[in-house]
Amino acid sequence: MGNKHRVRFEPVGIEIEVDEEQNILRAAAEQGVQLMHGCKEGQCAACKSFVLEGDMDNIELDKYSTFALPDSEREEGQTLLCRAHAYEDLVIELLQYDEEIIRSGLPISKGVAEVVSNEPATHDMRHLVLKLIEPEEIKFFPGQYLDISVPNTDEHRSFSMAHVPGRDAHWEFVIKIYPDGLFSDFLASKVQVGDRLDVEGPFGTFTLRESRTSPIVFVGGGAGMAPVLGLLRAMADRGVDRKAVFYYGARAKRDLCFEEELRSLESRIPGFRYVPALSEPAGDDEWDGEVGLITDVVERCEPDLKGRDAYVCGPPPMVDAALAKLTALGVLEQNIFYDKFTTTGEPEGEDGP
Ligand SMILES: Cc1cc2nc3c(=O)[nH]c(=O)nc-3n(C[C@H](O)[C@H](O)[C@H](O)COP(=O)(O)OP(=O)(O)OC[C@H]3O[C@@H](n4cnc5c(N)ncnc54)[C@H](O)[C@@H]3O)c2cc1C
Ligand code: FES
Repeated sequence: MGNKHRVRFEPVGIEIEVDEEQNILRAAAEQGVQLMHGCKEGQCAACKSFVLEGDMDNIELDKYSTFALPDSEREEGQTLLCRAHAYEDLVIELLQYDEEIIRSGLPISKGVAEVVSNEPATHDMRHLVLKLIEPEEIKFFPGQYLDISVPNTDEHRSFSMAHVPGRDAHWEFVIKIYPDGLFSDFLASKVQVGDRLDVEGPFGTFTLRESRTSPIVFVGGGAGMAPVLGLLRAMADRGVDRKAVFYYGARAKRDLCFEEELRSLESRIPGFRYVPALSEPAGDDEWDGEVGLITDVVERCEPDLKGRDAYVCGPPPMVDAALAKLTALGVLEQNIFYDKFTTTGEPEGEDGP
C-alpha cells in the first residue's frame, strides 16, 4: 500500500480516498462510487475527466492509448481516471457522469466460475455458459460486464453478461473468436466443460436507466448482442413497457444469432421490434430483411429520433459511427449509453507512458 490522498469529484461533490497504488476509478468503485467507464484500460475515453485542482506532475498515468487521451488534451489538464494515480489531493471535474448511477455502485468481487458449455452462437462467435462456484452470488445490473482471467497467464479479458440477475445460476456470454487472440484461442481450442475460471466484477455502466421512460433504440453489432440481450431479457422479466427497437448489424445470415429468442421477445415486451440488417448478404442467403450498414439502416428506418434514449454496443468503429449518426438524427448526447468493445491485445494508436 502507498500513501493515501483525497480526491473530490465535481460537480457532484463526492470525495474519496485514493491509495497511490490504485487508479482513481478503481478506488472510487471500491468506495461505492460508480464513475462512467468502459474498458478500464485507457482505450475508450469513457472515463476522461478534467483536473480542476492539483499539479499534473503529481498524477501518474499507466499505459494508455493516445487515441483516448491525445497529448494536447493531457496538456490542457484532462486525464483518464482508469489509468491515473494521485500523488497529492486533487479536485476532478467529471466530464461525463450520471446522477442515476453514480451512487448505485455494487461491490466488486473476485470469484471462481465453472464452464458449463461453450457452443457456437455463429460460425465465429461462442455462447459461453458459466456457473458461479464461489462466492455464492455476485450482484450485477443487466448489461454490465465481467473480467475473466485467461488461464496460465496474468491477462484477463472483459465480457458482457447476456443473462439477468436471479434468473438461474448460469452466466451467459457471447464471445467473438479472433484469429491469434489470447482468450479466443483458449475458447476455441483449449477450454473444457468443467474447467474453472477466475472472474472479477461487475464492471460497466451500460445499464438500463430505470428512471427514464423515453422510447429506446438499441443499436448493436457482432458480440454487442450480449449486453443488449441482457437488457431486453431484463425488460421482459420485469414487465418494462418502454417502446423499444433493436437494430442489429451482421454481415451475412450466418452471422445472426439468438433470432428465435429475439422474435419471442417481440411478444414479451409490448411495442418491441427486432430489426436485423445484413451488410453483405451471401449469394445463397434467402433474405428479405434490411440490407446495408447498420447506421445507414437506422437512418433509413428512423429519420427522426428526437426524444429517444439510445443504447449502442459493439466494435469501436461501429459504436463511433452510431454515436455520430444518432446525434445527427436527434438523440441528445446525454441520452446515448454505450460500451465499446475495445481490445487489449494491441491498443490502437501509440501508447502513453
Ligand atoms: C467493456 C468491454 C466489454 C466487452 N465485451 C465483450 C463481449 O461481450 N464479447 C466479446 O467477444 N468481446 C468483448 N469485449 C472484447 C474482449 O474483452 C476482448 O478484447 C476480445 O475478445 C479479444 O480478446 P482476445 O484475447 O481473443 O484477443 P487479443 O489477444 O486481445 O488480441 C489478439 C490479436 O487479435 C486482434 N484483434 C483483437 N480484436 C480485434 C478486432 N476487433 N478486430 C480485428 N482484430 C482484432 C488484435 O489486433 C491482436 O493482435 C469487450 C471489451 C470491453 C472493453
Ligand atoms: S474506461 Fe478509461 S479509457 Fe476506457
